[in-house]
Amino acid sequence: EKGGYKHFMLKEIFEQPRAVRDTTLGRISLNTGTVFLSEMKISDEEFRDAPRIDIAACGTSWHAALAGKYMIERLARIPVEVDYASEFRYRDPIIDSRSIGMLITQSGETADTLAAQREMLAKGLKTIAICNVVGAMVAREAHGTIYTHAGPEIGVASTKAFSSQLTALFLFALYLAQTRNTITGDESIALVEALTRLPGKIEEVLRTADLACEKLARVYSTARDFLYLGRGIHYPIALEGALKLKEISYIHAEGYPAGEMKHGPNALIDGTLPVVVLATKDGANHGSRLRYEKTLSNIQEVTARSGKVIAIATEGDEQIGDLVDQVIYIPQAPELLLPLLDVVPLQLLAYHIAVRRGCDVDQPRNLAKSVTVE
Ligand code: F6R
Repeated sequence: EKGGYKHFMLKEIFEQPRAVRDTTLGRISLNTGTVFLSEMKISDEEFRDAPRIDIAACGTSWHAALAGKYMIERLARIPVEVDYASEFRYRDPIIDSRSIGMLITQSGETADTLAAQREMLAKGLKTIAICNVVGAMVAREAHGTIYTHAGPEIGVASTKAFSSQLTALFLFALYLAQTRNTITGDESIALVEALTRLPGKIEEVLRTADLACEKLARVYSTARDFLYLGRGIHYPIALEGALKLKEISYIHAEGYPAGEMKHGPNALIDGTLPVVVLATKDGANHGSRLRYEKTLSNIQEVTARSGKVIAIATEGDEQIGDLVDQVIYIPQAPELLLPLLDVVPLQLLAYHIAVRRGCDVDQPRNLAKSVTVE
């Protein structure tokens, strides 16, 4: 049932190209770049008039929400607020009933997320669910569901569900941009094409990064702490990398916005601290190039204090190798799709470290696959 893999988690990491492909399937037109989302009980007018999107989720799904905020704000120019579902209803959120609520949940049964949905509905919001289980509670209550077609996820640590959530969010952001006229037809076509090329690129990452991460695990599996740094849309991926390592290897790890290091966490850096830095770039995107340049300075801040840097960088980057201890290269992609590639080595790194430490990768201690208590 593990299809020849040692653990479900590894099998599910390797299923990501298919999961992303299946989540995209039937929802796009390559000719026009149009995105289709079926059965929304929310009209185009409502999407146009919405002053904001309010998203609530937990754990890995919350990280997807944070990345989704960048996608939606960038493409559809509509403000997005992201909450931990467990915090949402206790802060008595200020809600405009014309806003759209969104719940992201792999299982569709997470108690905190369902409670947030009830709060949204009580305040008059229409809600959209992004969910991996057909007919789950969250979908029954929602005005529209974008199903992720990741297939059943058995490993407690979420991997293929996460990349499917990013895919669904990207599609939603494009859909919203098209409905609100914030994108040209040519831009849509280019992004839809890039999305269809992504599964092949994830395959490339899997081919090279698996062995590279196994080697890295030999060096770093005894570390006491890890730091993960990213900027922009890569900051939520840094958080996700740190969560994967924490939950399956029991090593303390933190994700941080790279630019925030100098405001405190630099004090943690010494020669024993591995720092994973997301330092990819989309050469065609000005914002991305700027982010990359700033990230290089952040890397130098770490190495100047003897920290060990593992960089995730873009193929063809000849500059970065000299600045860091190890590099894992991933293919080029548009900025908003890069997270789907740079998360893969982070999953594999956590996996191989946990295996070397003899941890129960598929069933980490103290954790359950779906959390049905608040
Ligand atoms: C981490 C993980 C959890 C879940 C969280 C929400 O790997 O799996 O953090 O993401 O419990 O679960 P869902 O998405 O089912 O609501």
